Amino acid sequence: MALTQSGSTRDHWSSRSAFLLAAIGSAVGLGNLWRFPAEAGSNGGGAFVLFYILCVVLIGLPVLLAETLIGRHGQASAPESVRRVASASRASSHWSVLASMGVFAAFLILSFYCVVGGWVLYYVGVFAVDLVNSGVAGGAFAGQSADHIESLFPALIGSAGWTVGLDALFLGITLYFVARGVSGGIEVVANWMMPAFFVLLLAITVYGMFGGGFGQAIDYLFTFEPEKLTGPVMLAAVSQAFFSLSLGVAGMITYGSYVGRNVNLAGTSAMIAGADTLVGLLAGLCVFPIVFSAGLPEGAGPGLMFVTLPHAFQDMPFGSVVGLLFFIMVFFAALTSSVGLLEVPTAWLIDRFRIVRRFSAMIVAFGAMVLGALAALSFNALSGWHPLGFIPLFEGQGFFDVLDGLTAKLFMPLGAILTALFVGWVADRKLVDIENGIGGALHLTWLFLVRFVCPLALVGILVMGLFPDLFG
Ligand code: PFF
Repeated sequence: MALTQSGSTRDHWSSRSAFLLAAIGSAVGLGNLWRFPAEAGSNGGGAFVLFYILCVVLIGLPVLLAETLIGRHGQASAPESVRRVASASRASSHWSVLASMGVFAAFLILSFYCVVGGWVLYYVGVFAVDLVNSGVAGGAFAGQSADHIESLFPALIGSAGWTVGLDALFLGITLYFVARGVSGGIEVVANWMMPAFFVLLLAITVYGMFGGGFGQAIDYLFTFEPEKLTGPVMLAAVSQAFFSLSLGVAGMITYGSYVGRNVNLAGTSAMIAGADTLVGLLAGLCVFPIVFSAGLPEGAGPGLMFVTLPHAFQDMPFGSVVGLLFFIMVFFAALTSSVGLLEVPTAWLIDRFRIVRRFSAMIVAFGAMVLGALAALSFNALSGWHPLGFIPLFEGQGFFDVLDGLTAKLFMPLGAILTALFVGWVADRKLVDIENGIGGALHLTWLFLVRFVCPLALVGILVMGLFPDLFG
């Protein structure tokens, strides 16, 4: 993920593959591994998953191309990029509000994302200790009961000290890389960690195929039961698609702004969406066989990945090594995404207030730490606090869930609607045609999706998801 000075005044990715890897790094993260299985499990499985895939193809991919296109044309922070496209199209500069909203949403996501990143660090530690105790050859947690493994997660999130401390640690690591200009270290990490991560995920999935519960998992994830496709499930699916593809929060506008003219944005967007969806589905195929064979509840929500996977590693030969490797890779996947999240508001502060990168990143991280601590405490000390409890959508939810719900179910779809309207209807056609890198029927299809399908479908899904009572 190197941003090198390429002679121009603005940093650029060192190559097309650097952009591809960085963007995949931003997209593939906790959203795929932790949030996707949890959301699929809480929203009834197949209907959610199939609608999710439909959303990726018909809404996510077109918006992804629209975002990177704005960024590449603008070559500046997200709001400034939108302003530049607007000015080149003789449109109102107020459109930049779509990106300003995104910058704020990225900041909110960063706050709770790092809390989960902290949980991942905890499991890295658990498996490292276990490797010493259980040895290399056997499974993980030698001689320990399933109950003990399952109790690790509630014990972790129940502790204010651990959750806040690990949140700070994860945020600190993210800050370190963003403050340094996202160069060197992260590029190396993304370069070999992402491919290694794919291989390991695939290997664990194949292992799971023989462990029982696989057929049931396939049925659960891919059987379409139309009656389960309610408004809230559709909203959850489209929100997950945006979360997973880093859309609607100016993330891909920001990354697109470091892209040079030589990159084909459409082809790259398709690869990003393909890789991201594949990882989400593989994560589902890793987690659900274990859920079913161990008789765990599939709607366990945020704890799903952290409770189920350690089970698998207990039975697996070399389980403690594989478990440790796996959580290290989850950590890197999460880090390449949190770096992307911190980069969005940081780039904006640099552009808008001319604050040097290091301080910009520190200011954002400080804010995210305050909100993140409140989110971490919502599982323990502040568990009785339901900040938006008066709104039905957030009834009974703590601060962590409110941050997650507010960003994924409101900010991201709204950001995407505005992006689609802006690129589809407002931006100069010639500019869009030159930037998007596709021609002929494909171009027309994309334009149709961005102009009509994305805004209309999103408004419909938002209304049905937020006001399910209206639809009986
Ligand atoms: N796409 C990331 C994930 O799936 O974990 C989360 C994310 C990263 C969202 C960067 C938004 C963003 F700008």
